[in-house]
Amino acid sequence: MTHNTIVHVMNLHKCYSTEQPVLHHISFDLKKGECLGIVGESGSGKSTLARCLLSLIEWQQGQIYFEGLGLKNLAPKQLRKVRARMGAVFQNASTALNPSVRIIDSLMEPLDEHKGYTPSFLAQDSWLGRIGIAEKLLALVGLPEKYLFKYPHELSGGEKQRVTIARAISTEPAFIVLDEPTASLDVTTQAIILNLLKDLKESLSLSYLFISHDLAAVHFMSDRIIVMKNGHIVDQFGVEQIFSDERHSYTKQLLQVFAG
Ligand SMILES: Nc1ncnc2c1ncn2[C@@H]1O[C@H](COP(=O)(O)OP(=O)(O)OP(=O)(O)O)[C@@H](O)[C@H]1O
Ligand SMILES: [Mg+2]
Repeated sequence: MTHNTIVHVMNLHKCYSTEQPVLHHISFDLKKGECLGIVGESGSGKSTLARCLLSLIEWQQGQIYFEGLGLKNLAPKQLRKVRARMGAVFQNASTALNPSVRIIDSLMEPLDEHKGYTPSFLAQDSWLGRIGIAEKLLALVGLPEKYLFKYPHELSGGEKQRVTIARAISTEPAFIVLDEPTASLDVTTQAIILNLLKDLKESLSLSYLFISHDLAAVHFMSDRIIVMKNGHIVDQFGVEQIFSDERHSYTKQLLQVFAG
């Protein structure tokens, strides 16, 4: 673990019950400013890993360090602080937004919880007040201000996903988990959202864990890629090494689908 490591996962072992482990002693690092891609077939443990990193679920063995702090059995107060430094965007924007709540209230939920906190990218606009800040957040993801007072059912899937992205970046997290953020969108919207995520990563110096079973998307987004199969990391490489002959046979299999 070096000073520019933001997430350090050491021997992470997770079972949901007494059955087969879902994650088998997983270890890896994620550096500041990096996008680490996780690819693997359905059921390989990608979302379980994401939920452990976000401390949404517990695990049996191993440790996850976030900005140097071990997350296992963290006191609730400390966990709250850590959570403000993490964001998450999941596959289904429709379920991520409460259908009976206007967009402004879903969008501002994290900032409402951390009253008095203004992210640095909005610092010069802190005089704006709640609605002004919400408008700025929407503008960051390319949505007009009139959307603030709509309900989720009045937005398209891509627009809803933009709202969840704006919400995820609102507290200026250092790290965002993106678990299949574009899986429920059409191909054109997928490309637009991936480009948006890439631009935000650069402009806000974010670090991403980007999860997808779509190797092309992972290739587009990531600096480094981890390939998972049945809860094991079977391959790990810099994105420029993706077509190298040294790739694991399973990675090559995924690449055939990618090429074909
Ligand atoms: N809450 C749960 N309780 C029990 N088993 C679970 C739970 N969530 C996931 N699992 C099991 O853990 C394994 C890994 O699931 P996980 O959701 O992490 O896979 P995934 O790689 O994200 O798959 P997908 O690509 O379909 O999203 C699966 O066998 C799944 O059935
Ligand atoms: Mg999943």
